[in-house]
Amino acid sequence: MALSETAEGLVSQIASIGYLDLPVNPTLDLFAEIDRLKKEKNAIILAHYYQEPDIQDVADYIGDSLGLSQQAAKTNADLIAFAGVHFMAETAKILSPNKKVVLPDVLAGCSLAESCPPDRFAEFRKKYPDHVVIMYINCSAEIKAMSDIICTSSNAQLIIESVPKDQPIIFGPDRNLGRYLMRKTGRDMVLWDGVCIVHDIFSAEKIIRLKERHPEAKVIAHPECVDAVLDLADYVASTTGLLKFTQKDDATTYIVATEPGILYQMQQASPHKTFIAAPPDNSCACNECPFMKRNTLEKLYLCLKYEQPEIMLAEEVRIRAKKAIDRMLEISAAAGL
Ligand code: 13P
Ligand code: SF4
Repeated sequence: MALSETAEGLVSQIASIGYLDLPVNPTLDLFAEIDRLKKEKNAIILAHYYQEPDIQDVADYIGDSLGLSQQAAKTNADLIAFAGVHFMAETAKILSPNKKVVLPDVLAGCSLAESCPPDRFAEFRKKYPDHVVIMYINCSAEIKAMSDIICTSSNAQLIIESVPKDQPIIFGPDRNLGRYLMRKTGRDMVLWDGVCIVHDIFSAEKIIRLKERHPEAKVIAHPECVDAVLDLADYVASTTGLLKFTQKDDATTYIVATEPGILYQMQQASPHKTFIAAPPDNSCACNECPFMKRNTLEKLYLCLKYEQPEIMLAEEVRIRAKKAIDRMLEISAAAGL
């Protein structure tokens, strides 16, 4: 890889490897440099809980998908550096079109978003012309533009219940979350068949074995997990919901069935408690999201410095996608979320 800081060099690096691969002086204090760049450029760093601890430490806001969208909608920053995955940075751009939005690595995708290509979804939707389309935020801007309302794991039940009972619904792209919501709301929905590769492979059997070794532990799980894991859970919620639960609940040990990046905030908020990452159903010991973990502190520093890779969207797609996200934000705000 030719290391070039010319505009063409930057563009060609992003096109070929998805991020800026430029030399970073190993003696540089990246925490101080990132702080300096933030001030110089009136930039804000928004980070998801699944980011590595160093990134969480430099972030101005750390949260779940709902919190991150709310922050993106209200920030006064000129530059938003999004430490998360592509659909999250796109959501920020949809909500704040006049701001520059950068993502440390454009190949930080999401298996759910990738499972739902716009051409296939358009065909699927045609089969159910009288259905309202509620899509989980983990989808591309094009899919959001084909939706009526967006939801996140924090407000999905609320959004579904905001639709009249006799109104049929298409829900996607996560079939596990869809099934969980069907059970919670008693609504029958047509589901898109996508999964999160991280949450779909937590092993119920291994969690049961862990529970035998830690009988005092509570199992807490994200609703993207399969039914067998959710059936074992004492509490099911979004990442923010799980974090808040561990702060107010009186147990001292938790088996956590979501991406282990969240353990960093859980441990900081409750240093006296023990958090055990639930094991996946394979020979690997951890269940890290390979997309989230494409971002590194070095890539974050470089993207702030060069303001690349930048998220760009067709205005026509952005406007339609924004309508569906705004609907979600309105319903959430009215409910005090
Ligand atoms: P939340 O943080 O909104 O619960 O979403 C989890 C997730 O998988 C994000 O990609
Ligand atoms: Fe997508 Fe799952 Fe990774 Fe979240 S954890 S970004 S849903 S693959």
